[in-house]
Amino acid sequence: MIKKGIVLAGGMGTRMSPLTKAVNKQLLPLYDKPLIYYPLSVLMLAGIKKILIIVNKGQLSQFKKILPEKNNLGISLEYKEQIQPGGLPEAFTIGEKFINKDSVSLILGDNFFYGQSLTKILRKNMNLNTGAKIFVHPVKSPHLYGVATLDKNRKIIKLEEKPKKTKSNYAVTGLYFFDNKVVELTKKLKPSKRGELEIIDLLNFYKRKKRLKAEFIGRGGSWLDTGNINDFYDASNFISTIEKRQGLKIACLEEIALNNNWIDKKQIKIAADFYGKCDYSKYLYSLINE
Ligand code: DAU
Repeated sequence: MIKKGIVLAGGMGTRMSPLTKAVNKQLLPLYDKPLIYYPLSVLMLAGIKKILIIVNKGQLSQFKKILPEKNNLGISLEYKEQIQPGGLPEAFTIGEKFINKDSVSLILGDNFFYGQSLTKILRKNMNLNTGAKIFVHPVKSPHLYGVATLDKNRKIIKLEEKPKKTKSNYAVTGLYFFDNKVVELTKKLKPSKRGELEIIDLLNFYKRKKRLKAEFIGRGGSWLDTGNINDFYDASNFISTIEKRQGLKIACLEEIALNNNWIDKKQIKIAADFYGKCDYSKYLYSLINE
């Protein structure tokens, strides 16, 4: 059973410089919330209460202002720093103590997921004690991502990182479930040509042992990119369109915590005070005054 999750929220954000020179990308606004709220909401929707956030060296205080360890979300939050962006698998060595003897999920701090069946898909995959799981989604430009080639029975045939050419349009999204072996396997990884540890190499360890499975986030779900500034604004517009139409917020962390029965009305009020007079607080009040 997966009870722990890591949000990897470091990186240089080079593709979005100068915006990211002074501010971590994951703290930039994706419509009405900091980007990190969205991946964090995914872990919370999955029912994960023990969360480690990994940030860049020197950026801890920025994150703690918005997501303090003593939070109003009913979750246990821990932080660790990554000295340099040495690749995604570093999450497991940095998080070794946090993971301890358990399975763990990893979500990249810049990944946005949305869709009616999302919670259902997550919850049905939580029971992982051995092996690893990736979540794939069809995209028009797979060469920008990790790509999974699958056979008719949805078995994974090949995994490649940003291949120039591929017949598959299934991107490997930035959400991964791993058993406890992940720490030991990460220590065996060697840096790639670009000088980083690669998540695809780690996943290939599992694939070779026939311990890697793929779950599908079909076309009814959305996985949006926030990699470059155009994608970032497209994702922002998507959220704005849906929230304005429905009057409901995507990735309101306190709402998810309330629905999970992790917090009560009193904590919603404390959270609203924490944010101060703003639309987000008004929304929080609307949750408890219905
Ligand atoms: O978004 C899904 C894709 O994420 C996958 O399809 C790819 O297989 C995977 O390699 C990754 O590709 P990206 O090129 O998008 O990864 P990027 O270097 O942009 O990093 C993604 C996030 O992780 C970003 O929020 C910064 C953070 N990060 C990245 C690295 C390399 C860290 O916190 N530390 C790091 O060392």
